[in-house]
Amino acid sequence: MDDDYVIVPLPDGVIRKGFSCGIQLIDNFVKNNAAKQHKKGQVRVHAAVHVASNRLIGFVSLCLKTYEPDLSEESKELFERVQAVPTVYIAMIGVTQEFQKKGIGGDLLWYAFEKSVEIANIAGTYALTLNANDDSLCEYYQNLDFIRMSEDDETRIMYIPISKIREAIAQAGSEQPSTANSEVANSTVA
Ligand SMILES: CC(C)(COP(=O)(O)OP(=O)(O)OC[C@H]1O[C@@H](n2cnc3c(N)ncnc32)[C@H](O)[C@@H]1OP(=O)(O)O)[C@@H](O)C(=O)NCCC(=O)NCCS
Repeated sequence: MDDDYVIVPLPDGVIRKGFSCGIQLIDNFVKNNAAKQHKKGQVRVHAAVHVASNRLIGFVSLCLKTYEPDLSEESKELFERVQAVPTVYIAMIGVTQEFQKKGIGGDLLWYAFEKSVEIANIAGTYALTLNANDDSLCEYYQNLDFIRMSEDDETRIMYIPISKIREAIAQAGSEQPSTANSEVANSTVA
Protein backbone atom coordinates (compact mmCIF):
# COMPACT_ATOMS: atom_id res chain seq x y z
CA MET A 1 0.00 0.00 0.00
CA ASP A 2 2.87 2.38 0.80
CA ASP A 3 4.03 2.09 -2.81
CA ASP A 4 0.72 3.35 -4.25
CA TYR A 5 1.09 5.97 -6.95
CA VAL A 6 -0.96 7.68 -9.62
CA ILE A 7 0.12 8.92 -13.05
CA VAL A 8 -1.18 12.43 -13.71
CA PRO A 9 -0.14 15.58 -15.61
CA LEU A 10 2.51 17.25 -13.41
CA PRO A 11 0.59 18.71 -10.45
CA ASP A 12 1.64 22.11 -9.06
CA GLY A 13 2.37 21.04 -5.52
CA VAL A 14 4.18 17.75 -6.14
CA ILE A 15 7.51 17.38 -4.32
CA ARG A 16 10.34 17.14 -6.88
CA LYS A 17 13.19 17.49 -4.39
CA GLY A 18 15.23 14.33 -4.00
CA PHE A 19 14.36 12.88 -7.42
CA SER A 20 17.38 10.93 -8.64
CA CYS A 21 17.14 8.42 -11.47
CA GLY A 22 20.89 8.09 -12.01
CA ILE A 23 21.19 10.22 -15.14
CA GLN A 24 22.15 13.78 -14.30
CA LEU A 25 20.62 15.35 -17.38
CA ILE A 26 17.23 13.88 -16.43
CA ASP A 27 17.58 14.77 -12.74
CA ASN A 28 18.50 18.36 -13.67
CA PHE A 29 15.47 18.54 -15.95
CA VAL A 30 13.20 17.54 -13.06
CA LYS A 31 14.84 20.06 -10.75
CA ASN A 32 15.11 23.05 -13.09
CA ASN A 33 12.93 22.77 -16.16
CA ALA A 34 10.11 20.24 -15.82
CA ALA A 35 7.54 22.60 -14.31
CA LYS A 36 8.49 25.53 -16.57
CA GLN A 37 8.42 23.52 -19.81
CA HIS A 38 5.20 21.77 -18.78
CA LYS A 39 3.45 25.09 -18.15
CA LYS A 40 4.73 26.66 -21.36
CA GLY A 41 3.70 23.60 -23.38
CA GLN A 42 7.21 22.85 -24.70
CA VAL A 43 6.67 19.35 -23.37
CA ARG A 44 3.92 17.90 -21.21
CA VAL A 45 5.21 16.10 -18.15
CA HIS A 46 3.21 13.17 -16.79
CA ALA A 47 4.19 12.35 -13.25
CA ALA A 48 4.07 9.19 -11.18
CA VAL A 49 3.16 10.66 -7.80
CA HIS A 50 3.65 8.63 -4.62
CA VAL A 51 0.29 9.00 -2.92
CA ALA A 52 1.41 8.78 0.71
CA SER A 53 4.20 11.37 0.42
CA ASN A 54 3.12 13.49 -2.61
CA ARG A 55 6.61 12.92 -4.05
CA LEU A 56 7.45 12.72 -7.75
CA ILE A 57 8.86 9.21 -8.14
CA GLY A 58 8.80 8.95 -11.93
CA PHE A 59 7.77 10.80 -15.04
CA VAL A 60 7.49 10.68 -18.79
CA SER A 61 7.57 13.87 -20.86
CA LEU A 62 5.90 13.98 -24.25
CA CYS A 63 5.96 16.33 -27.21
CA LEU A 64 5.34 16.11 -30.94
CA LYS A 65 8.17 15.50 -33.38
CA THR A 66 8.45 14.96 -37.12
CA TYR A 67 10.96 12.74 -38.89
CA GLU A 68 12.20 12.35 -42.42
CA PRO A 69 10.03 9.87 -44.38
CA ASP A 70 12.70 7.12 -44.13
CA LEU A 71 11.84 6.37 -40.49
CA SER A 72 10.46 3.06 -41.81
CA GLU A 73 9.40 1.53 -45.13
CA GLU A 74 5.78 2.03 -44.11
CA SER A 75 6.27 5.69 -43.17
CA LYS A 76 8.04 6.26 -46.49
CA GLU A 77 5.02 4.96 -48.30
CA LEU A 78 2.58 6.97 -46.19
CA PHE A 79 4.41 10.28 -45.79
CA GLU A 80 6.94 10.70 -48.63
CA ARG A 81 4.66 13.12 -50.42
CA VAL A 82 4.54 15.51 -47.43
CA GLN A 83 8.20 14.94 -46.44
CA ALA A 84 7.45 14.76 -42.69
CA VAL A 85 6.35 11.86 -40.50
CA PRO A 86 4.26 13.07 -37.54
CA THR A 87 4.96 11.27 -34.24
CA VAL A 88 4.46 11.55 -30.50
CA TYR A 89 7.93 11.71 -28.93
CA ILE A 90 9.06 10.56 -25.49
CA ALA A 91 11.41 13.43 -24.68
CA MET A 92 12.46 11.92 -21.33
CA ILE A 93 11.51 9.13 -18.96
CA GLY A 94 12.88 8.44 -15.51
CA VAL A 95 12.08 6.71 -12.24
CA THR A 96 13.80 7.67 -9.00
CA GLN A 97 16.30 4.99 -7.98
CA GLU A 98 14.54 3.91 -4.78
CA PHE A 99 11.45 3.01 -6.85
CA GLN A 100 13.14 1.45 -9.90
CA LYS A 101 12.42 -2.15 -10.92
CA LYS A 102 8.91 -2.09 -9.49
CA GLY A 103 7.17 -1.72 -12.85
CA ILE A 104 6.75 2.07 -12.74
CA GLY A 105 8.82 2.61 -15.93
CA GLY A 106 6.62 0.04 -17.67
CA ASP A 107 3.47 1.76 -16.40
CA LEU A 108 4.73 5.14 -17.63
CA LEU A 109 5.39 3.66 -21.08
CA TRP A 110 1.97 2.08 -21.12
CA TYR A 111 0.50 5.47 -20.20
CA ALA A 112 2.47 6.98 -23.13
CA PHE A 113 1.00 4.24 -25.36
CA GLU A 114 -2.53 5.19 -24.29
CA LYS A 115 -1.95 8.92 -24.72
CA SER A 116 -0.41 8.37 -28.20
CA VAL A 117 -3.54 6.57 -29.31
CA GLU A 118 -5.71 9.39 -27.94
CA ILE A 119 -3.63 11.90 -29.90
CA ALA A 120 -3.74 9.70 -33.03
CA ASN A 121 -7.53 9.53 -32.75
CA ILE A 122 -7.64 13.31 -33.14
CA ALA A 123 -4.77 14.14 -35.51
CA GLY A 124 -2.76 12.03 -37.97
CA THR A 125 0.15 10.40 -36.12
CA TYR A 126 2.34 7.56 -37.32
CA ALA A 127 4.20 6.33 -34.23
CA LEU A 128 5.47 6.82 -30.70
CA THR A 129 9.21 7.59 -30.88
CA LEU A 130 12.20 8.06 -28.59
CA ASN A 131 15.98 8.11 -28.50
CA ALA A 132 17.39 5.31 -26.34
CA ASN A 133 20.23 6.45 -24.12
CA ASP A 134 22.42 3.39 -24.71
CA ASP A 135 22.40 -0.05 -26.32
CA SER A 136 21.14 -1.86 -23.23
CA LEU A 137 18.14 0.47 -23.10
CA CYS A 138 17.51 -0.35 -26.78
CA GLU A 139 16.95 -3.93 -25.65
CA TYR A 140 14.56 -2.76 -22.92
CA TYR A 141 12.50 -0.87 -25.51
CA GLN A 142 12.76 -3.67 -28.08
CA ASN A 143 11.14 -5.98 -25.55
CA LEU A 144 8.22 -3.55 -25.55
CA ASP A 145 8.01 -3.77 -29.38
CA PHE A 146 9.88 -0.57 -30.21
CA ILE A 147 11.90 -0.90 -33.42
CA ARG A 148 15.31 0.68 -33.93
CA MET A 149 15.28 2.86 -37.04
CA SER A 150 18.80 1.82 -38.01
CA GLU A 151 21.63 0.00 -36.23
CA ASP A 152 24.03 2.62 -37.64
CA ASP A 153 22.18 5.53 -36.09
CA GLU A 154 24.19 6.68 -33.07
CA THR A 155 21.25 8.60 -31.62
CA ARG A 156 19.32 5.29 -31.38
CA ILE A 157 16.01 6.52 -32.77
CA MET A 158 13.30 3.98 -31.93
CA TYR A 159 9.63 3.88 -32.87
CA ILE A 160 6.49 1.82 -32.41
CA PRO A 161 3.72 2.39 -34.97
CA ILE A 162 0.38 3.51 -33.51
CA SER A 163 -1.19 0.50 -35.26
CA LYS A 164 1.00 -1.80 -33.10
CA ILE A 165 0.06 0.10 -29.95
CA ARG A 166 -3.61 -0.27 -30.81
CA GLU A 167 -3.06 -4.02 -31.20
CA ALA A 168 -1.26 -4.23 -27.84
CA ILE A 169 -4.03 -2.32 -26.09
CA ALA A 170 -6.72 -4.45 -27.71
CA GLN A 171 -4.83 -7.59 -26.67
CA ALA A 172 -4.45 -6.40 -23.10
CA GLY A 173 -8.16 -5.59 -22.96
CA SER A 174 -9.33 -4.99 -19.45
CA GLU A 175 -6.18 -6.67 -18.09
CA GLN A 176 -3.96 -3.64 -18.75
CA PRO A 177 -1.05 -3.19 -16.32
CA SER A 178 -1.82 -1.04 -13.26
CA THR A 179 -5.43 -0.50 -14.24
CA ALA A 180 -6.08 1.51 -11.07
CA ASN A 181 -3.28 3.96 -11.86
CA SER A 182 -4.38 4.37 -15.48
CA GLU A 183 -7.94 5.03 -14.42
CA VAL A 184 -6.90 7.81 -12.09
CA ALA A 185 -4.59 9.23 -14.74
CA ASN A 186 -7.25 9.13 -17.41
CA SER A 187 -9.76 10.86 -15.27
CA THR A 188 -7.44 13.75 -14.42
CA VAL A 189 -5.84 14.61 -17.74
CA ALA A 190 -6.33 18.32 -18.43
C1 LIG B 1 14.70 3.08 -17.60
C2 LIG B 1 13.81 3.30 -16.39
C3 LIG B 1 12.86 4.46 -16.66
C4 LIG B 1 13.00 2.02 -16.13
O1 LIG B 1 12.17 2.25 -15.02
P1 LIG B 1 11.79 1.07 -13.99
O2 LIG B 1 10.67 1.54 -13.16
O3 LIG B 1 13.01 0.61 -13.29
O4 LIG B 1 11.32 -0.03 -15.05
P2 LIG B 1 10.46 -1.33 -14.79
O5 LIG B 1 10.42 -1.64 -13.33
O6 LIG B 1 9.16 -1.18 -15.49
O7 LIG B 1 11.30 -2.40 -15.54
C5 LIG B 1 12.52 -2.85 -15.00
C6 LIG B 1 13.28 -3.45 -16.13
O8 LIG B 1 13.77 -2.43 -16.96
C7 LIG B 1 14.92 -2.88 -17.62
N1 LIG B 1 15.92 -1.81 -17.50
C8 LIG B 1 15.93 -0.75 -16.67
N2 LIG B 1 17.01 0.00 -16.92
C9 LIG B 1 17.68 -0.59 -17.90
C10 LIG B 1 18.86 -0.29 -18.59
N3 LIG B 1 19.60 0.80 -18.31
N4 LIG B 1 19.25 -1.15 -19.56
C11 LIG B 1 18.53 -2.25 -19.86
N5 LIG B 1 17.40 -2.58 -19.25
C12 LIG B 1 16.98 -1.76 -18.27
C13 LIG B 1 15.35 -4.17 -16.97
O9 LIG B 1 14.91 -5.19 -17.85
C14 LIG B 1 14.52 -4.21 -15.71
O10 LIG B 1 14.16 -5.52 -15.42
P3 LIG B 1 14.93 -6.32 -14.26
O11 LIG B 1 14.26 -5.86 -13.01
O12 LIG B 1 14.63 -7.73 -14.59
O13 LIG B 1 16.37 -5.94 -14.34
C15 LIG B 1 14.65 3.57 -15.10
O14 LIG B 1 15.57 2.50 -14.92
C16 LIG B 1 15.41 4.88 -15.13
O15 LIG B 1 14.90 5.91 -14.72
N6 LIG B 1 16.67 4.84 -15.58
C17 LIG B 1 17.51 6.02 -15.62
C18 LIG B 1 17.02 7.02 -16.63
C19 LIG B 1 16.98 6.43 -18.04
O16 LIG B 1 17.82 5.63 -18.43
N7 LIG B 1 15.97 6.86 -18.80
C20 LIG B 1 15.75 6.37 -20.14
C21 LIG B 1 16.52 7.18 -21.10
S1 LIG B 1 16.26 6.59 -22.76
